[in-house]
Amino acid sequence: TGSVTYDPGFANTASTSSSITFIDGDEGVLQYRGYPIEQLAEQSNFVEVCYLLIYGELPTQEQYDAFDSRLRGHTIVHEDLRRFFRAFPYDAHPMPMVAAAVAALSTFYQDDLDVFDEGQIDTSSFRLLAKMPTIAALAHRKNMGLPVIHPDNSLSLVENFLRVNFGVPAEEYEPDPLAVKAMDQLFILHADHEQNCSTSTVRLVGSSQANVFQSISAGVNALAGPLHGGANSAVLEMLEQIAASDDGPKKFMERVKNKEDGVRLMGFGHRVYKNYDPRAKIIKKTADEVLARSGGDPLLELAQQLEEIALADDYFVERKLYPNVDFYTGLIYKALGFPTNMFTVLFSVGRLPGWIAQWREMIKDPETKIGRPRQIYTGAHSRDYKDIGDR
Ligand code: CMC
Repeated sequence: TGSVTYDPGFANTASTSSSITFIDGDEGVLQYRGYPIEQLAEQSNFVEVCYLLIYGELPTQEQYDAFDSRLRGHTIVHEDLRRFFRAFPYDAHPMPMVAAAVAALSTFYQDDLDVFDEGQIDTSSFRLLAKMPTIAALAHRKNMGLPVIHPDNSLSLVENFLRVNFGVPAEEYEPDPLAVKAMDQLFILHADHEQNCSTSTVRLVGSSQANVFQSISAGVNALAGPLHGGANSAVLEMLEQIAASDDGPKKFMERVKNKEDGVRLMGFGHRVYKNYDPRAKIIKKTADEVLARSGGDPLLELAQQLEEIALADDYFVERKLYPNVDFYTGLIYKALGFPTNMFTVLFSVGRLPGWIAQWREMIKDPETKIGRPRQIYTGAHSRDYKDIGDR
């Protein structure tokens, strides 16, 4: 096959150079623009991390204030986009609703579609960052059959996000500081992760010069799968199933190790991390804090038992399978009041600044070419067509 290299799943192929996120999977290191994830999760906030990922540097106070206030001005979605949600079935899953609404943004903001115009790129970035939380909440409330709550721009992005999801009655809504802190930190931890499946999708779609809304809508769809962002809801479903069965964690782990029906320990393993996922370490602490306040959750104990069994078991040790970011997040989302089918949407709200930063880096890079992998052809060769009656 000449110069074609076969690399299923792109396990050894660098598709791009990038200066946004650094991962050392053997050491469990994650840095955004050189800053360790642990410091950002403890000391920064999500809005600041959005700025850092997109512009490459931490903002000065003045830059932060201007960025934050411009974001607050874009939270409302067009009334017709809001009506769009009425057309979905009453029990539609929130994730495809979000993907469809993000794609639909390019029908509302047709002035934003010159992919090489810096000013327009900036405007569409603000539109996306500010409207995504509103869109996510619209999907949540539609799925629950609840009335829409409008954003209140006196609140920060994360406070507003909790308000549009839960703030009833909206006029009296007071954001809960622990919920705001946990949500903010979870968004930071999800904000970027170099060339994962959804980010590579955003870049691949964008490499055809499709606009940023279309590219990111494709990223939302890529994130939905259970091996990627969908793992966070799959973890909770797995914990609930184990808790409801008579088998207990040990028997379940035997099934995983025997690869019975392809069952996996969801929230474990990672293509790049062959060590403890640094995000999972931070999340574990937050899970303890949030769950302690809500009176605990027996599923947290079950998750801890599964982790303990896995970390001491040859099957997991040999394959270097450790908890990943998704193992504990679902328990926090549940304690904050989100239904399980919203968990992957929450991941997408967090991952958005990463997608935007990566799309912007891709479109500006003079080395960008349309993404167009080759294949190893395994089909038939040069057959003669036969009339339908002769086959
Ligand atoms: N449970 C049991 N066995 C596993 C698991 C798991 N969670 N993950 C990997 N393995 C086994 C797999 O069966 C294979 O075994 P063998 O060598 O005997 O064939 C070996 O470990 C290597 O697995 P792989 O599927 O070749 O590894 P990969 O790099 O292609 O897949 C992964 C990475 C994340 C898709 C995989 O570990 C997995 O399916 N994990 C569960 C789903 C999950 O938690 N996904 C979230 C990932 S982190 C956040 C995100 O990216 O969204």
